[in-house]
Amino acid sequence: MTTTVARIFETMEWGPAPEASGPALEWLQAHGGEFGLFIGGRWVPPSAGETFETINPATRGTLARIAQAGKPDVDAAVEAARRAFAGWSGLPGHARARYLYALAREVQKHSRMLAVLESLDNGKSIRETRDLDIPLVARHFYHHAGWAQLAASEFPGYGPIGVVGQIIPWNFPLLMLAWKVAPALAAGNTVVLKPAEFTPLTALCFAELAQHVGLPPGVLNVITGDGGPGALLVEHPGVDKIAFTGSTEVGRIIRKKTAGTGKKLTLELGGKSPFIVFDDADLDSVVEGVVDAIWFNQGQVCCAGSRLLVQEGIAARLVAKLRVRMEKLRVGSPLDKAVDMGAIVAPVQLERIRGLVDQGVAEGAAMWQPSWACPTEGYFYPPTLFTDVSPAATIAQVEIFGPVLVSMTFRTPTEAVALANNTPYGLAASVWSENINLALDVAPKIKAGVVWINCTNQFDAASGFGGYRESGFGREGGREGMYEYLKTEWDGGRGTGEEALPSPGSGTVAEAAGTRPSSPVPLPPIDRTPKLFIGGKQVRPDQGYSRAIRASDGRLLGEVGQGNRKDVRDAVEAAHAAAAWGRGAGHLRAQILYYIAENLSVRSEEFAARVAAQTGAPLPVGRGELDAVIARLFSYAAWADKYDGAVHHVPIRGVTLAMHEPIGTIGIVAPDTHPLLGFVSLVAPAIALGNTVVVVPSSPHPLSATDFYAVLETSDVPDGVINIVTGDKDVLARVLAEHMDVDAVWYCGGAAGGRAVEEASAGNMKQTWLPGARDWLDGRQGEGREFLRHATQVKNIWIPYGE
Ligand code: NAI
Repeated sequence: MTTTVARIFETMEWGPAPEASGPALEWLQAHGGEFGLFIGGRWVPPSAGETFETINPATRGTLARIAQAGKPDVDAAVEAARRAFAGWSGLPGHARARYLYALAREVQKHSRMLAVLESLDNGKSIRETRDLDIPLVARHFYHHAGWAQLAASEFPGYGPIGVVGQIIPWNFPLLMLAWKVAPALAAGNTVVLKPAEFTPLTALCFAELAQHVGLPPGVLNVITGDGGPGALLVEHPGVDKIAFTGSTEVGRIIRKKTAGTGKKLTLELGGKSPFIVFDDADLDSVVEGVVDAIWFNQGQVCCAGSRLLVQEGIAARLVAKLRVRMEKLRVGSPLDKAVDMGAIVAPVQLERIRGLVDQGVAEGAAMWQPSWACPTEGYFYPPTLFTDVSPAATIAQVEIFGPVLVSMTFRTPTEAVALANNTPYGLAASVWSENINLALDVAPKIKAGVVWINCTNQFDAASGFGGYRESGFGREGGREGMYEYLKTEWDGGRGTGEEALPSPGSGTVAEAAGTRPSSPVPLPPIDRTPKLFIGGKQVRPDQGYSRAIRASDGRLLGEVGQGNRKDVRDAVEAAHAAAAWGRGAGHLRAQILYYIAENLSVRSEEFAARVAAQTGAPLPVGRGELDAVIARLFSYAAWADKYDGAVHHVPIRGVTLAMHEPIGTIGIVAPDTHPLLGFVSLVAPAIALGNTVVVVPSSPHPLSATDFYAVLETSDVPDGVINIVTGDKDVLARVLAEHMDVDAVWYCGGAAGGRAVEEASAGNMKQTWLPGARDWLDGRQGEGREFLRHATQVKNIWIPYGE
């Protein structure tokens, strides 16, 4: 049959349009098809001489042999990064900016070769590597050249962390490198990067580009291999921070391994992101949105919109439209420019997808695939749609990481939010409605780090990306992402637990020891009622045990209850019941913080005496602490309506709103020193920004916190916003860290306690913060943005506009 234009319009058939693989294959050949490790600015063979193959998943052909790094290699890479650190971090920001700029330019100059290399190694389509992956890589280096330039003026009081170990996955090999390397270098850190074993080639090519621009030796080191060198990097004592993207399973291992080491950590893990369609959505746009959400990169995307939640009335219509579209999707050679979907990265991933799809069918869901067949020479899998899925089904809960969409229906916006949040993950969400009021009402209710309104899978270097809950913590991109690679000037680094604290409080005590009068003021009456403060009430501890609290000279000052697991559980329940606190206005929270300060100031003499009596410090020291407490409450009352988010400048016609959201319920273990100031310094920022708290006050000096109950009761603090459980701090800290309904734990205490908290936090991947040794009286160290940042997480809401 002769081909006519009319017929082409009818069938929409077109022939192959292959991208040339020549330059990329020549580059591989120029290296003899074999690569060493990039350490200290040189290419070195692996110490044990071990290599493995990297293959093209679309053809199963071998592309190159890759070095398997062993322990001596990891040691050498970390050592090289350490040697380079002083020089790199000492450069003026402008000099670092020039290097990052040069890297961005190199990526652009080699963009087509990098795009082809990525397609060959990963199996993803050239359309995506050419139009999305590589341009975004360049964009990240440009954007972060800017942060390097501005670091000194925009992050005063902050400096680089040191040597950073970065472990990345195979789904966006070069893009994940850029997300990690660009901010780390901009901030002045040096890097040891381990790419995924399935996709090392673009990282090796990038190392060569770094060599070409003259990046000082050791600033970036690339070690290849499987999880082995990754684990060695995590455990290496010379590494100051680990940044990981990959499976939740490995993320959990890394959380446990780094616990107690003082290493900083960011984790970007899995997701099961909802794609919510209301019945007034533009269904044709929705269909294209779904294609981008779940068939982009063969669905191997951590933030893939893999759960389609559709309002009941339009479900049948949308599913019918989707099937028509799926029938037209093209799966085939990744280097064909007209192909929508390429190959799955490796046989193991293909098997995982097949297994989960079989399980979906076995559990009773209806599976649909297009009528055409996939190519058989590589690892291909067709786009797949499940309907009649129950929210509890395995395929509705487990991350499939393949081109498989599961759909469910809802009736009301409330039900949509409940279904959307019915997952332990919280990476991203997409909301579709022509009613912007509805979309903007729903977006803040979804527990996710990114919400896309009437769009999906939008990324940009200016907008932070990262998760809530078991999707990990930390952000990549934007100002929020830069903080992940910086530390405060007073952060002494690793191994500085509170036990090593040169506490100003205790210093004053020691100095004053010789001059202290036996009783600074008439003693307050002994309070022998050991109680806890839970849900706005003073309640007896579950076990009824109490502990005597003595002054430094041995006098009995009072007793406090010994809280246990049950008490913590009750307190967490009360804190959850008070979640409306976070939804209210900052102005209201400010009013209440002022009111607490006001009520405290009326009784400040009594509280000052109590602080002095417990710590053995002279009364003026106690008074000094009270002054600081009242000033601090004022600071956070001030901040309550001022810790604004941002509008990011992303390259879309629209806006991206970076909202600071409360984390939820925070478990706080207050420092031992400064009985009241330590307590307030942590509780006030947490509640100012809408969190509810369960606090374990100073173990040796808890009476200031228990005296505080009365202040709280008279200050209109809603029941359950602040809960206080006295007792053994490390026992209670562990219970808090293990509790699945606690969203973050801030722990001040010894190294062993800190380690236990970090280890136990891996259960629900809660955020942990060990504020460490600091001077709580110093306004720079004891309050401010650092605290506010820990009390919030950023949600980026993308809102395109225009008709
Ligand atoms: P993975 O988490 O094992 O691999 C990610 C990176 O971590 C790789 O570089 C790997 O070599 C390294 N690694 C492995 N074990 C390690 C350890 N013990 N210590 C340090 N580093 C280690 O992911 P994998 O096996 O490639 O994929 C398994 C599943 O994980 C996928 O099916 C998918 O569900 C999920 N995944 C999620 C990603 C995301 O972006 N959220 C990315 C890749 C995979």
